[in-house]
Amino acid sequence: MQLVRGKYCIISLLIFVIAMLGGCQRQERQVSQDQVKFVIGVSQANLIEPWRIIMNEEIREEAAKHSDVRIVFTDAVQNSEKQVRDVGELLQQGIDLLIISPNDSVALTPVVAQAYKKIPVIVLDRAVEGYDYTLYIGPDNKSIGREAGKYISELLNKTGGNVVEIQGPSGVPSLQERSAGFREVIGKYANISIIDTIVADWQRDKAEDKMTELLDQYPKIDVVFAHSDYMALGAYKAAKKKGLTGIKFVGIDGFSGPNGGLQLVEDGVLQGTFTCLTGGREAIQYALDILNHEKGLPKKIIPRSNKITLANVLEYVKSTNEVKKNNPTSNRRIVLGFSQLGAESDWRRANSQSIKTAAREADIELIFLEGDQRQETQIRDIRSFIAQGVDVIAFSPVIESGWTEVLEEAKAAGIPVVLSDRAIKSNDASLYASFIGSDFVEEGRRAARWLVGQKKDTQQQNIVEIEGTFDSAPALDRKKGFAEIISNYPENRVIYSASGDFTEAGGQEIMKSALALYGNKIDVVYAHNDDMALGAIKAIEEYGLRPGKDILIVSVDATEAAFKAMLAGKLNCTVECTPLLGPQLMQAVKTLMMGRQLPMRIITSEGVFPAETARKDHVNRKY
Ligand code: AHR
Repeated sequence: MQLVRGKYCIISLLIFVIAMLGGCQRQERQVSQDQVKFVIGVSQANLIEPWRIIMNEEIREEAAKHSDVRIVFTDAVQNSEKQVRDVGELLQQGIDLLIISPNDSVALTPVVAQAYKKIPVIVLDRAVEGYDYTLYIGPDNKSIGREAGKYISELLNKTGGNVVEIQGPSGVPSLQERSAGFREVIGKYANISIIDTIVADWQRDKAEDKMTELLDQYPKIDVVFAHSDYMALGAYKAAKKKGLTGIKFVGIDGFSGPNGGLQLVEDGVLQGTFTCLTGGREAIQYALDILNHEKGLPKKIIPRSNKITLANVLEYVKSTNEVKKNNPTSNRRIVLGFSQLGAESDWRRANSQSIKTAAREADIELIFLEGDQRQETQIRDIRSFIAQGVDVIAFSPVIESGWTEVLEEAKAAGIPVVLSDRAIKSNDASLYASFIGSDFVEEGRRAARWLVGQKKDTQQQNIVEIEGTFDSAPALDRKKGFAEIISNYPENRVIYSASGDFTEAGGQEIMKSALALYGNKIDVVYAHNDDMALGAIKAIEEYGLRPGKDILIVSVDATEAAFKAMLAGKLNCTVECTPLLGPQLMQAVKTLMMGRQLPMRIITSEGVFPAETARKDHVNRKY
C-alpha cells in the first residue's frame, strides 16, 4: 500500500504538471489514496480527430467502472517528438501500464520498445514495427476499404457512375491501406470512375469547403466515399446547400450519439457506414487482465467492421446496446460443436486436449469430432452439428478453400461459427464470427530471421523446406513469411521443397528424397512443424549425417519433443505456435452467447526458442 500511496502522489504531481502545460485531460481528483491500485498512462497521438476523442472517451468510461484504476492522458498534438517525450515522462512517473496510439509508427517504435522492457504496453490503431509490445488492437484498414468498395460497386454496378473519395491526412500508412483496398475493388468496374480525391484531414468543415468547390467543377457526382462519417457529413452539407439530392454518401466509423454515423444512417444522411472500433474500451479490459496476470492473453486483436445501412441500423444499435436479455441458454449449458481436423501431430493432440479441458472448466457441453485430415469429413461433422442445433460451431479447417457452402448453411441456421487455429479463404467475412489462432506468416518470418542470424559469411546455404498440408493456412503462410525474409539474402536458396503433411512420417519421407537428390550439399532444413523436423532428423541420421550439426534444422510449434531434440543437440531452433487455444475459445463462445460481437481476428502471443537457451526455456513449457 505504501508503494501505491507513493505512486498516487507522483501521479497526482504528473497530472498537475501536464494539466498546467495544457497537454492532458485527467480523471476525478477526489479519490482516496488507498483506492488506487493501477495507474494507466494513455499517450494519444492527437485530439483533433473525432475518432481519437471517442477513443479517449471510451477509455475513460471503461476505467470509471473500476474504482481502483486511474488514467493519465497525454496529447501529442500530432507531434512524434512530443509523443516520445510524453511516454518518457509517463514512465518516469511510474505508471503500471502504457496505452499508446502512435502518431507515427516508425518514430514511436523505439520508445515503445523501451517502455515494453519495463511495463506492459498496449498499442492502439497504428501499429509499431516489430513485436516489442504486449498487445496490439487495431483495424484491418485494407479490408474496411475493400468492403466499402464492394458496397459502392453494388450501388453503382448497374448504372455506372462517378465517385469522389475524401481522405484523412495524406501519407498516413493506415489510410493509404484503406484507400488501396477501396481502389482495388472499384478498379474492377470499368463503368465506375473515381473522378477526384479530397484530403480533408478528418475535419468536417474542410470536407464541406472542398466538396463545395468540387460540386462546381463536376456536374455529375453519384457517390461520395469519405474515410470518416464526420467528413461525409461535411460533404453532405455542401451538397445540401446547393440543393443537390441525388448524391449518396458513404462513411466509416459508425459511432452512436448525435451526428455519429449510426444516427446519420438512420436519418438518411448517409447511405451506409462501416464501423471502425477505436479499441479504447477493449484496451482497458485487456489492461486489467494483463495487470492481474491473466494467462493466455492475445498478442493482436483486429476488431470486426460491420456494414451499416438503413436495413440493419436499428437492429445493430439494439444489439450493441443490450446484452441478450432472454438468452435461451441462460438456464442450461451452452453446447459447442467442435470439428478437429485430425491428430496428425503433437501440436494437434495438445490442441485437442486444451479444448476439452477448457470446455470442462467453463462448463460448456462439448461435442468433439475428430477428422482424418480430410475436408469431406469435417464438412460432414459440421453438418451434423447444424442438424443437432448446437449453440456455436468451432472448427480447425484442414485447408483454406472450399468452406463457403457449409458455412452458409450454418449461417442460415443462425449458428455462429468460430475458426480455431487455421483460417479460411473467403470473400464473405459474415460467414464466421471470429478467428482465434497464430500469425503463421510471422512464424515463417521468425524462422527465417533466426536462420539469417546464424550466418557468419555470405557462403551459399542450400535449404530444404518441408511444407505442411497442401492448401492449409499454416503451410501457405509459413512458406510466404520465410520467403519474404530469405529474399533479402540471395545466398540462401530453397533447393527442394515438398509437403510432409505435418506428420513425422511425412517429414522423414521428404527428407529421404531430398538427401537422395542432394546428399551432403544440404545445409539447412526448414520444417513447417516439429513433427516433420523429427522425421527429417531420423532420415538425416539414417543417411549418416549429424542433424543439428552437419545440417541446421529450424521448425515451428515448440513442442515437448522439439525441446528434447534441442537438448540432444539435433534441432537448432523452434518457433512457437501455441496450441493452447481452449480457454480463449471458451471465452469467445460465452461472449457470443451473451449476444456480443467478437473481434474479427484474435492472434495469440508467441516466441522463438533457439537450442542455446532450450534448457532454461524448457522449464516453463506446457505442451
Ligand atoms: O495449424 C497448426 C499446425 O497444424 C501446427 O503447426 C502443426 O503441427 C499442426 O499439424
